[in-house]
Amino acid sequence: MVRRELFEECVSLLEKSGNEDAAFDTTCIFEDILEERHPLFSPLSQVPSDKERTIRSLAERRSEGYPLQYLLGKWEFFGYPFAVGEGVLIPRPDTEALCELAIEICRKEQLSSPRIMDLCSGSGCLAITLKKELPLAQVTAAELSEKALPFLKENIKLNDAQVELVQGDVTDPQLAAAHAGLDMIVSNPPYLTAEEMASLQTEVTHEPAMALDGGRDGLDFYRAIAKIWRSSLKEGGWICFEFGDKQHEDVGKILAENGFENITFRRDLAGIVRCAAAKRSGGPNNGKEGTC
Ligand SMILES: C[S@@+](CC[C@H](N)C(=O)[O-])C[C@H]1O[C@@H](n2cnc3c(N)ncnc32)[C@H](O)[C@@H]1O
Repeated sequence: MVRRELFEECVSLLEKSGNEDAAFDTTCIFEDILEERHPLFSPLSQVPSDKERTIRSLAERRSEGYPLQYLLGKWEFFGYPFAVGEGVLIPRPDTEALCELAIEICRKEQLSSPRIMDLCSGSGCLAITLKKELPLAQVTAAELSEKALPFLKENIKLNDAQVELVQGDVTDPQLAAAHAGLDMIVSNPPYLTAEEMASLQTEVTHEPAMALDGGRDGLDFYRAIAKIWRSSLKEGGWICFEFGDKQHEDVGKILAENGFENITFRRDLAGIVRCAAAKRSGGPNNGKEGTC
């Protein structure tokens, strides 16, 4: 079969399944399997029969709602390649806003070799990008999931990034105590509410629940991290969080209650308030008890 004919067949299959990005997804599958950019520049080339079978089976899987990124086994974040698959959250473009915010702060504050900790690191997209963009930074990535860790390790190698890896529970005060003197914490923790967890889109059901579930109101990790990790930051150190749509007021409140100031918010490309940065104030938690 020639490329154009197979392409049209796959696009039509995806469109019938309700996929709004059918042509884009099919192009990604073609590029991956034919190992060529712009495969439709030669629309009348024959597709070898083994590749035709593979393309068809990937398109079928995609039409059943299996994530494109898992089918391809890789995805780009901030222009860097990341290996992905079942067990690790697919890096989202929204998260680039958090990366930009963290980089901007490090540059503006002239932190020449900042100590940065990425809590809930998953694929390592934040930790690795920060290390690539701020080469003098000392970056540590903390992640608990046994299934995510192999991807994190692979991505550190793939990007030739010197990122230290720690397996641990970010809600464990001992882990925080072992990492004192940080200039910055970045975190995109699980933040879906119990209600959202009960009505996930088909595609998202293939991603690990552990990467999504933020407790009843979605805010468990913000409470725990703001309280437990505050004293791991130097005085004047920064915390940068990503969160979900309409969570900014609650996250801002949690930060203020836990002794953070200069709280600023940033929107993502879709215009949603997506992340916040705040500075650790002086003194022992402003004299207030943290909320947890
Ligand atoms: C929303 S994902 C974010 C992954 C990655 N930082 C990103 O932005 O794509 C949250 C991550 O937190 C991890 N996680 C969940 N509970 C954790 C815990 N108690 N301690 C450490 N990591 C945890 C999950 O395995 C998942 O990789």
